[in-house]
Amino acid sequence: MKQVNIGICGLGTVGSGTFNVLTRNLEQIQSRIGGSINIKQIGARRDNPACDLSTVEVTRDIFDVVKNPEIDIVVELIGGTTVAKDLVLQAIANGKHVVTANKALIAEFGNEIFAKAKDKGVTIAYEAAVAGGIPIIKALREGLAGNRINWLAGIINGTGNFILTEMGDKKRDFADVLKEAQEKGYAEADPTFDVEGIDAAHKLVILASLAFAMPLQYDKVFTEGISGIETKDIDNADRLGYRIKHIGIARRVDNSVELRVHPTLIPKKRVIANVDGVMNAVLVNGDAVGPTLYYGPGAGAEPTASSVIADIVDVARHIHSGANTAIPSLGFDALSDKDIMDINDIETSYYLRLVVDDKPGVLSQLTTALSDASIGIEAAHQEEPAEGETNAEIVLLTDKSAESNLLSALAKIEKLECVQGDVKKIRVESLG
Ligand code: HSE
Repeated sequence: MKQVNIGICGLGTVGSGTFNVLTRNLEQIQSRIGGSINIKQIGARRDNPACDLSTVEVTRDIFDVVKNPEIDIVVELIGGTTVAKDLVLQAIANGKHVVTANKALIAEFGNEIFAKAKDKGVTIAYEAAVAGGIPIIKALREGLAGNRINWLAGIINGTGNFILTEMGDKKRDFADVLKEAQEKGYAEADPTFDVEGIDAAHKLVILASLAFAMPLQYDKVFTEGISGIETKDIDNADRLGYRIKHIGIARRVDNSVELRVHPTLIPKKRVIANVDGVMNAVLVNGDAVGPTLYYGPGAGAEPTASSVIADIVDVARHIHSGANTAIPSLGFDALSDKDIMDINDIETSYYLRLVVDDKPGVLSQLTTALSDASIGIEAAHQEEPAEGETNAEIVLLTDKSAESNLLSALAKIEKLECVQGDVKKIRVESLG
């Protein structure tokens, strides 16, 4: 029986995890495949002390791997969208199947890559690109294949979730927690990708295409990061019965789709509101199944390797079966464009925090400005000013409103003489 040869490109956090888990569990993995596999070659600029490479051929030029006629599956774990894109396109051109953990590459160039792979009859598998060790791609593509997906919402960046959790639980400083996430290998090479929501947007766009049979449209995702969240917002939310999470939401609204990543207040009673640390979770609501929740580690060497190896198993089984068709990249035969909604047209509730003069009549000016825009108030809280202070901080929770409507009301509120500075706004979702 043919042996399936694997070439791993990149030996960083995920590459070393993949090598070690594949080596450790090889017997069981081969039994699952029903055939043998072999790590034939590794392309890495330097060795990784976490791996014993004594039995494998290592090349410093990763392109040797895609040129090697003996390699069947190229495992791209170098990250980025420049060299990685060339590598993947060359692998496809050379007739190799590709397994990748590269969410940026799939989100930004997936349409082109998938089309080229389809023409060539090779598979592009990317389970590890979204939510680390959670098999969410397979859940959407296979487990929920009978459903019309209504919406999904996820905590899909481990670093951001780790930061918000530590800030809330231990009152730690943002920069200090971020440094720890970098040391633990959770954060991206450029950690602004984590804290500004770019990494989550990459993942969300992949999930949305799998859910709604549409081409990847990364440039249309609305993205807001967590760098503006302060410990006092986390405490205020807690007092009102909510937790703040950085959430990616993809929802069908008639013939359009919402695609947005932003900090969000979620009722504490929702399970997803209690997903802490580096853990990720994705809620998927299908018309047949109803709400389903997928939970697990969203980053780290071996959790991500778990997903990389699941793809290797799929592709190797496919090769061993002798099938001469590729596994469809997004699980649909045909995709159709959908309009992506402008953030101004999206309806949510809002948490508002503002500083006002501590004098009678202020609250009524605020409620009037909101009610003039037909925005109701669900809850209000005022912090007593400190001794000698003349300003007070007010927190409001509003009913649902279109974002454009809320923004015009806020513009009026910020012009009121009793209001000091800008109003802090965080969206609120019930996710029920
Ligand atoms: N930087 C990413 C995260 C790694 O923190 O979730 C996994 O994609």
